[in-house]
Amino acid sequence: MLKEVIATRFIAPLREGGSLPGLIEADDLGTYVLKFTGAGQGRKTLVAEVVCGELARRLGLRVPRLVTVELDPVLGLGEPDQEVQQLLKSSGGTNLGMDFLSGALGFDPIAFEVDPGEAGRIVWFDALVNNVDRSWRNPNMLRRSDGLWLIDHGATMIWHHNWPGAAASAARPYDASDHALRTFAPDVASAAADLAPQVTEDLLAEVTAEIPDVWLAGEQGFGSPGELRSAYARPLIARAATVHQRIHGLEGEQ
Ligand SMILES: Nc1ncnc2c1ncn2[C@@H]1O[C@H](COP(=O)(O)OP(=O)(O)OP(=O)(O)O)[C@@H](O)[C@H]1O
Ligand SMILES: [Mg+2]
Repeated sequence: MLKEVIATRFIAPLREGGSLPGLIEADDLGTYVLKFTGAGQGRKTLVAEVVCGELARRLGLRVPRLVTVELDPVLGLGEPDQEVQQLLKSSGGTNLGMDFLSGALGFDPIAFEVDPGEAGRIVWFDALVNNVDRSWRNPNMLRRSDGLWLIDHGATMIWHHNWPGAAASAARPYDASDHALRTFAPDVASAAADLAPQVTEDLLAEVTAEIPDVWLAGEQGFGSPGELRSAYARPLIARAATVHQRIHGLEGEQ
């Protein structure tokens, strides 16, 4: 289970994100980036953040710590911006929070170096979860003195939008031609050799256990949150072994 905190103050909207994430303070005095359950993209975006974030972390990649944030819509009453007020009002209950990395800069492929090993691990991970949101236009990586941090995994696992077609969808290749790390000679083969054997049923059981039940309840075709957790695990386990052979668009590709 992710740690649960209670929002005590809405600080400001983060103007950069398409889903309008906000900055909040919580009862543990932490500052968190809040992803709203009432945002247009819906709660599946939050499930994707948890599955991918917790999996990436266990594979040794840097991801800000995730928490669940209980939000009382009353916090929106003092918010002058109509759009933000609406989001706060429609997001009562369980939302997603992540540690705010103060002092982090947005990743810029021109200004920063990334070694082929690290680039390979990130590209391989993005191929595994089919992340379409790590392009040079919108890298969704932050840079701090302690290294590269991965954020924003809402647009991954496209198969969770159509479960009956999930197996077929998860068998498809990954197009890395727009990937923000494409020019750093990502060593995908080494990443696959190192990471694929770690993507086991046990690991996925641990990862999917972190998804709050409330975001899983009521999904058509599933009798319980447990069944849906297994459905999240299956395509990732199936993809892990061979996805490196289906990454297209990298320089030097065979
Ligand atoms: N944990 C964090 N620490 C510091 N800044 C963050 C953090 N998470 C997000 N940000 C900042 O907020 C911006 C928006 O966050 P994020 O990309 O997660 O939102 P989004 O709405 O999904 O964005 P997108 O427009 O890519 O769909 C980031 O580009 C980054 O500048
Ligand atoms: Mg983003």
